[in-house]
Amino acid sequence: MAEELALNAPAKIQGMTPKEIVAELDKYIIGQDSAKRSVAVALRNRYRRNQLPDKMREEIHPKNILMMGPTGVGKTEIARRLAKLMDAPFIKVEATKFTEVGYVGRDVESIIRDLMEASMRVTKQKHMNEKRAVAEEIANEKIIEAIIPGNKKSSAPSGSNPFQFIMGGGRATYNKTTEKIEEKPEDSQTSLAREQVRQQLKDGLLEEQYVEIDVEEQPKENNLDVSQGGTIQLGSIFGDMPKRYKKKKMKVKDARRILTEQEAANLIDMDQVTSEAIENCEQNGIVFIDEIDKIASSSGIKAGIDVSREGVQRDILPIVEGSVVNTKYGPVKTDHVLFIGAGAFHVSKPTDLIPELQGRFPIRVELEPLTKHDFYRILTEPDNALLKQHKALFGTEGVNLTFTDDAVEEIASMAFMMNEHTENIGARRLHTIMEKLLEDISYQLPDVEDKNIVIDPKFVQDKFSETIKQDDVDRFIL
Ligand SMILES: Nc1ncnc2c1ncn2[C@@H]1O[C@H](COP(=O)(O)OP(=O)(O)OP(=O)(O)O)[C@@H](O)[C@H]1O
Ligand SMILES: [Mg+2]
Repeated sequence: MAEELALNAPAKIQGMTPKEIVAELDKYIIGQDSAKRSVAVALRNRYRRNQLPDKMREEIHPKNILMMGPTGVGKTEIARRLAKLMDAPFIKVEATKFTEVGYVGRDVESIIRDLMEASMRVTKQKHMNEKRAVAEEIANEKIIEAIIPGNKKSSAPSGSNPFQFIMGGGRATYNKTTEKIEEKPEDSQTSLAREQVRQQLKDGLLEEQYVEIDVEEQPKENNLDVSQGGTIQLGSIFGDMPKRYKKKKMKVKDARRILTEQEAANLIDMDQVTSEAIENCEQNGIVFIDEIDKIASSSGIKAGIDVSREGVQRDILPIVEGSVVNTKYGPVKTDHVLFIGAGAFHVSKPTDLIPELQGRFPIRVELEPLTKHDFYRILTEPDNALLKQHKALFGTEGVNLTFTDDAVEEIASMAFMMNEHTENIGARRLHTIMEKLLEDISYQLPDVEDKNIVIDPKFVQDKFSETIKQDDVDRFIL
């Protein structure tokens, strides 16, 4: 399935230099420099190409990349990190999810339709961001309107005056104003009260008060999550269904966020967004095809399932070569979409792909098997390093977990050794080792006397000595 890109991307990858992109990837992925460089250069080339005059641009086709390397060394991780960084339309798909035309399963054209959806999201987001300031102003006015309804609504019974409700016996000045409004709902009085509320809003004095606003009803599957820092499923705002509103009571600060989002959506010109999104998809789209080795037929054997694999390759080919795919937003040309294929290729080889497809992935990068030292770094360095994660998890139980440096060395050697002696599963080994290492303590928490737990090399050795002695390492293999 397509992995959706994060709307609140931390950095803008377009415009980043190759070195900057690599530096960003370095935060999460240890080593694999040549893969990072190839990807970074390919991305920068999109940017470079975009600076050229139209005529020349059309002639420059992206150079697709094939990433090869043993299992668990960071291929998918690179894609995952790129997806987070990307402000270009980006999707990651698994080649194994697709089947040949005529068979049950996803057809390959859905890759481009999903890419187009991704493009709609980023493009819409960009337009909405441009309208944000105006939208927020309108949102504030709507909040004022909800607090003190205008003349049209002043016929509302005074008892349900939301202004009164919100102020709920608060400041004296407001009570006074409210009374006046109730006695004589005159224009000047209303606008005076509104002016005061406007000022209060500006000063941030009403943030925690409740108002009732009209909220667009979201289709069930894309619910709008207010609690999550205003991340809103944009797809839902522009559903095909006619908009339906529902009155909802909420705090002013939440109301502002929702109304701003709604208003921004209303302010943008969807026709323009759509045509820009198509352009964006065609010119900047990136498709990451993972597990591409799984649709290559292993040499020699050509029967049954292999026929279908080859069929998938044949179906993918026109998309990679450049064709037109119909989407619900209109036809999308794939000539300039960048494809990055990745696979372990330990059973099959790139040469097992049909020649036409091989030719479409001219850049080959090999990912290196990970060394003991890489394991040490993976455990400690990345922003989300395993040791940091376990430390944080233990922290929630009020326990301070630390690893001595030589214990980390020991874990790294242990992982390396197990990979050598049994199946090499790359960095995934670290996950299994860490689980095994901490499972007992983890079970005891939080009932431990000493809240400082120090993992030293002896602890690591003891934990695994039995397993290793009995040569029974397989017992806790993935
Ligand atoms: N070079 C690396 N730096 C940091 N973490 C890594 C690295 N390589 C792998 N990992 C970690 O190991 C796990 C597996 O890695 P990943 O999914 O990238 O493997 P892969 O190369 O795609 O393997 P496969 O061929 O089996 O799909 C992930 O949790 C990832 O974070
Ligand atoms: Mg993978």
